[in-house]
Amino acid sequence: MTMPRAEITGWGKYVPGKVLTNDDLSKMVDTNDEWITARTGIKKRHIRTEADTTTSMACAAAHEALAVAGLTPADLDLIVVANSSPDYLLPAPANLIQHQLGAKCPALTLAAGCSGWVYSLVTASQFIQTGAYKNIIVIGVELISYAIDYTDRSTCVLFGDGAAAVILQPSQTEAGVMTFELGSDGEHAQHLMVPGGGTRKPLSQEVVDNREMYIRMNGQEVFKFATRKLISCLHNITGSAGMSPADLDLIIPHQANLRIIEYAADKLQLPMSKFFINLHKYGNTSTASIPLALVEAIEEGRLKPGDVTGMVAFGSGLSWAGAVIRMGEALAKAQPQAEVEGALV
Ligand SMILES: CC(C)(COP(=O)(O)OP(=O)(O)OC[C@H]1O[C@@H](n2cnc3c(N)ncnc32)[C@H](O)[C@@H]1OP(=O)(O)O)[C@@H](O)C(=O)NCCC(=O)NCCS
Repeated sequence: MTMPRAEITGWGKYVPGKVLTNDDLSKMVDTNDEWITARTGIKKRHIRTEADTTTSMACAAAHEALAVAGLTPADLDLIVVANSSPDYLLPAPANLIQHQLGAKCPALTLAAGCSGWVYSLVTASQFIQTGAYKNIIVIGVELISYAIDYTDRSTCVLFGDGAAAVILQPSQTEAGVMTFELGSDGEHAQHLMVPGGGTRKPLSQEVVDNREMYIRMNGQEVFKFATRKLISCLHNITGSAGMSPADLDLIIPHQANLRIIEYAADKLQLPMSKFFINLHKYGNTSTASIPLALVEAIEEGRLKPGDVTGMVAFGSGLSWAGAVIRMGEALAKAQPQAEVEGALV
């Protein structure tokens, strides 16, 4: 008996209403639009309003995804939430999201930095393949602004808040998650971390005074890691599917920095048009980055039934995760929405 693939049958997204432009940031730290655009490609990012919580953002994206799939929260067999910015240290965000949605199923939270959503997608697809569960929602939600030091110009320009979700169901066809790669390199964890507030350095006045409850990053080391993994992971996940990166209809890279994507495109000898990019609008939304890009690619008609996409995420850990997915007939439900703000490429 062949095991069914996990197919994407619903999708949804949410970004907070507050927008922080490069010009806004230039009034907060010593930076400017020219530097941020040239070094990152980011023009603006959405930041939580008073009304937004990790739970509320996740539920907004989840309701959209459920509606597209024609499901209600009661139909869900499992909720998987990728997140590193929980409402509380305990309980885990998935439990609060389950309650807010009105679902009764188990709810699992998975933290793997910016790779978390692809890790979650791959984890969820295993439950579908074994037949254990039929209707799973995989949510990527990040209220990352809470962990950003808005006096540190080297990090505060990069990140934004957002959420996105997909529904996975057993496929009757070839559509679904085809191959994947998950990776971890904890040896280099120090290059991207929040040093204070955990059990090694509990929250204290000293942690606050040293601003150690915020993200610290060695940008150049992370940049090198990211380019290396984007290229190798694309080769590995397509190779496992008997393809090459050039055979993919669309590549959805983690939306961290346009230069990382341009470097990989150049090394892979692929045109930038093969890569979906929305980082100019949202910055790096961490776990929400890949699903937010996937949802917009579907909504804009960049992915159609039968298309094969390859996605690669990388981030703190250091970690990386990639997957090749064939899109199914559900995508015919997408209403292409014009990209009103124009793409960078
Ligand atoms: C952070 C990043 C944009 C910095 O770009 P860079 O080209 O490596 O820049 P550098 O760190 O070498 O800094 C160059 C100069 O710009 C300055 N600079 C840093 N941030 C700046 C900002 N926002 N505005 C203006 N100048 C800035 C630095 O202080 C440095 O000045 P100096 O030469 O006088 O010391 C880049 O390293 C990067 O994107 N790394 C990967 C980060 C990432 O993707 N993280 C998330 C992974 S999930």
